[in-house]
Order: sequence, then C-alpha cells, then structure tokens
Amino acid sequence: MHTGKVHIILIGFMCSGKSTVGRALAPLLDMPFADLDRVAEKRVGPLVPFFRDHGEDAFRVLEAEVLRELLEGPPCVIATGGGTPCEGDNLKRMQDGGRVVWLDVPMEALMPRIIRSGGDRPLLLGSKGDALRSRVEELLRPRLPIYAEADVIVQATAPPATVAERIVQALNLDQVR
Ligand code: S3P
Repeated sequence: MHTGKVHIILIGFMCSGKSTVGRALAPLLDMPFADLDRVAEKRVGPLVPFFRDHGEDAFRVLEAEVLRELLEGPPCVIATGGGTPCEGDNLKRMQDGGRVVWLDVPMEALMPRIIRSGGDRPLLLGSKGDALRSRVEELLRPRLPIYAEADVIVQATAPPATVAERIVQALNLDQVR
C-alpha cells in the first residue's frame, strides 16, 4: 500500500537523543520506529565487542548495509548512529529516501549527557575528563558541516516529547495523535 509517507531519519552526535526522540516521534506520525544500532546488534551482538574484535571499518560496512535495508523497507522513523551520515554515500541515500533531521545539541549540553550515559559508546571508551572532551571535539568538528546538510535542524536540548513536536512542525507533517 502506498501511504505517501517517507522515512523520517534522525541524525546527530552520540547522546543527542536520536533514539528517545525517535520513539516519541513515531506514534505521533503513526509510523514504526527503527533504531539502526539496535538492528545491527541483533545481527552481530553488542557493539563494543564487535568494534574490539572486528574494528570500526567492519562496523561501517554493517551500518551501511542495515541503513540500506531500512531505507528499502516501509516508511519509518529511523534513529541512526552518530557517524552514519558521515560515511560513504549514506547521507545522499538518506536524503533520497526521506527527510533528514539533525538533532542539534551544543557542546555544553552534550558533554554532561555523554558523561552521564555515553560510557558504553565504542568510540569514547576509556576516555575521561579533559581527554573525553577532546575526543568528543575531535569527532564532532568534521561532522558538524555534514549534520548541517540535514533538511531540517532542530534544537534538541528540550525534553524528547518537545523535540518530537518540533520535528512534526518543522517538517510540516500531519500529526495523528
Ligand atoms: C557512533 C555512534 C554510535 C554507534 C557507534 C558509532 C559514532 O551510535 O553507531 O558506536 O560514530 O558516532 P549513537 O550515536 O547512537 O551513540
């Protein structure tokens, strides 16, 4: 059945709230929700040991594959990983398959979130204090101009439900609930 809907694809740095906002957004649009990293984990197990045993390059191949499959599937709200739009032609494929939304969280708001809940991220593992901040800056700098290519940029420091409402408004979508 053709519903006229397209994928809504959330991008942004680690801990910017892609998964929680995606989960809040999907019911507003009556669309299913998919979390790219969780789909990848169903195939290969937890990402930390996968990165350790197979390396980042192997993860990027898997990530691109899962993204391709999700984009080929029925329209859904997709939470991507922080690096997804920055690899190969992923961003172009996302833009061709739906509307891309950047959850923008400035560094001052991002760091406390990363300190609180970013400890399980393979690319940040083992860094603390100043080293963690430098690592985040180093990863974020080249990514910012790529995130900024999103169709819509939403300030994402507010609670997830508020951010989800902002996305509905910004994309001019029909809210069903
Ligand atoms: C990554 C972010 C992670 C996950 C992987 C790589 C990145 O996703 O895809 O660890 O390169 O920023 P989250 O943004 O959901 O933490």
